[in-house]
Amino acid sequence: MRMVDLIHKKKQGGSLTCDEINFIVKGYTSGKIPDYQMSALLMSICFMSMDKREIADLTLAYVNSGDRINLTEINGIKVDKHSTGGVGDKVSLIIIPLVASVGIPVAKMSGRGLGHTGGTIDKLEAIEGFTANLSRKQFISNVNTYKMAIAGQSENLTPADKKIYALRDVTATVESVPLIAASVMSKKIASGADAVVLDVKVGSGAFMKSLDEARELAQTMVEIGKSLGRKTIAVITDMSQPLGLEVGNANEVKESIEVLKGRGAYDLCTVSLTIASYMAVLGGAFPDFDKAYAEFQAIVLSGQSLKKLKQLVQIQGGNPDVIDNPGKLPQAKYHIAIKSSESGYISAINTESIGVSAMLLGAGRKNKDDLIDYSAGLTMVKKIGDKVNIGDTICILHTNLENYEEAETMARSAYSVKADKPKPINYIYEVIQ
Ligand code: URA
Repeated sequence: MRMVDLIHKKKQGGSLTCDEINFIVKGYTSGKIPDYQMSALLMSICFMSMDKREIADLTLAYVNSGDRINLTEINGIKVDKHSTGGVGDKVSLIIIPLVASVGIPVAKMSGRGLGHTGGTIDKLEAIEGFTANLSRKQFISNVNTYKMAIAGQSENLTPADKKIYALRDVTATVESVPLIAASVMSKKIASGADAVVLDVKVGSGAFMKSLDEARELAQTMVEIGKSLGRKTIAVITDMSQPLGLEVGNANEVKESIEVLKGRGAYDLCTVSLTIASYMAVLGGAFPDFDKAYAEFQAIVLSGQSLKKLKQLVQIQGGNPDVIDNPGKLPQAKYHIAIKSSESGYISAINTESIGVSAMLLGAGRKNKDDLIDYSAGLTMVKKIGDKVNIGDTICILHTNLENYEEAETMARSAYSVKADKPKPINYIYEVIQ
């Protein structure tokens, strides 16, 4: 087999066989196939796509490139959740204690942020002492005892996806339904979940900019999950503006605490409770979504899930006092208010620009090994549909950097103001199961 022939085949819209896909994935992971040939193939996939059978074969080739995590020692149905990536997406911080509080085991493996999207582990590490570096034994024991644990993905989980994802990131080949579907689903299959709830983001801060694309991605991932014996539900949620009010790390932890006190932003509460409810239904705790949702609302108001978050912080080495006193989280030196230069209604927010602005303020990484400033980020004082007058603060930057001009320009230019009030935004578009 020759890679050049396979590139040619895909360029002409052909369907790659299972053997051909395995040849490509093994060859690239082991270094036999060079970046330039893999880039050409990835670009051909972006234009010519893949059929369902090819996507399932690609998913399994990624899974088989590394270890499969064995979670059979954990009692009960293990339900995982995955977001396709967004800005201000702190849903995992909220759903881990929520779902655990109804007795469903949450064995969460999470990544770190790169580029304009944040990572759950970075956010939790804003809490002094918190570690996601758990041994397998500790991870399993915490889930069996407390029904929850969060750990970083092990080095050898889907290494083919890691290497190919890094290449996609620099060759403009991330936005492709078959490539995203195989990447996401391979990680979920390899990490041992019995059931998966997918949060497929759509809008200016997501990889999928239109509802049609998001729906195609959601349907594809649900089919892969089911064909591989995993109960899978996809919820298509809004990312036309950051989720909630805070973007960063420490400030996102603070906002998650607010949600678990019943005082969070409506969009964030709705998305979090929806994802948690589908997880709890798949885990067998409730017969249907409505019952689960109502119960989670009651659990939040009772303070039970906030106590569970405090327990999660404590068992993973963090300072639990932070939950009662979020003022102990890292604080930035400078807080810069951005004022509106127009009157009217916020009509759109370029969410990717807000994510990039947060990264430039220190909240994210430009390169994989960069250190994060946990105190940096933005507060979205105004969101889509809000009325503004000239001089009103629309957002606040938090940073320790003295030179924040580029971040300020990005955040300012992310906002659009129009005279007419825009239509209200849906937070949940569709559920595919
Ligand atoms: N998230 C992933 O894990 N993979 C992708 O390809 C895109 C988003």
